[in-house]
Amino acid sequence: MKLQGKTALVTGASRGIGRSIALGLASEGADIAINYKKEEAAAERVKKQIQSKSTGNKVITVRGSTSTKKDVRLVVDRTMKCFGKIDILINNAGILTRTPFLEIPETEWDSIIETNLKGYFLMSQAVALTMVQNGINGSIVNISSVLEKITAPNLTHYSVTKAGVSMLTKQTALELAPHGIRVNALAPGFISTDMNRQELDNKEFKEAALGDIPLGIIGRPEDITGSVVFLCSDKETRLITGTTIFIDGGRSLK
Ligand SMILES: NC(=O)c1ccc[n+]([C@@H]2O[C@H](COP(=O)([O-])OP(=O)(O)OC[C@H]3O[C@@H](n4cnc5c(N)ncnc54)[C@H](OP(=O)(O)O)[C@@H]3O)[C@@H](O)[C@H]2O)c1
Repeated sequence: MKLQGKTALVTGASRGIGRSIALGLASEGADIAINYKKEEAAAERVKKQIQSKSTGNKVITVRGSTSTKKDVRLVVDRTMKCFGKIDILINNAGILTRTPFLEIPETEWDSIIETNLKGYFLMSQAVALTMVQNGINGSIVNISSVLEKITAPNLTHYSVTKAGVSMLTKQTALELAPHGIRVNALAPGFISTDMNRQELDNKEFKEAALGDIPLGIIGRPEDITGSVVFLCSDKETRLITGTTIFIDGGRSLK
């Protein structure tokens, strides 16, 4: 129970990696705000799953798109109203589309940037303000991607957002350090979720993906959880800020 007494807001926690992070933080004793955009039933299932473990955690679901300031305000206000403070923010809500560079429409570019990069900025700023105002030595973890460092076909917009998350992590780590707030990132490689299920169902795509991973493993959402708990445990990581841990089976080595 490393996170007993802490409150965590996890964006995009109704499914995939965010869901697994919410369950992992809750199992270490944290109270959890599960943010989602559309999938209310899925978010409620995550809430029930946490409550069923009967560790006594408080848990709420909060609808709102991280890509608009109005919604971010609502999500943060609701979390503050329920819990009185936020110690941990996990910026995880993200989207991905695969389109050749020459064919990316402006609307698709904007939508990826707004969710994957602007959303992380808006949430970080709104939550960090509550931490500063309440004297909380908080922890922010940004879920980036191995594509912050390497290229992949048809993912120019997505990769650019993750490279942006890499610098956002370092900048915010620098500027929030005087307030005792640490900011770090995790960069997963291929993790089997709704985001890439269709592609991974394609045998040729999956074989090519596995061929690029030195350890030869496609990850599961649970593979991300341990590192999140680690980065949020102040005792173990009080000196760690502005860093990125790659959880990619060695993909970024190629
Ligand atoms: N899967 C991978 O291989 C992989 C690899 C590297 C990095 N990542 C990163 O990991 C993160 C999670 O990915 P995933 O694979 O778990 O995706 P996923 O299974 O598709 O789940 C995406 C989650 O984000 C939420 N979401 C999307 N747009 C949102 C918005 N504007 N506001 C609030 N919530 C929003 C969704 O909510 P609803 O359920 O309401 O739609 C859902 O909970 C993303 O940042 C992704 O880039 C994934």
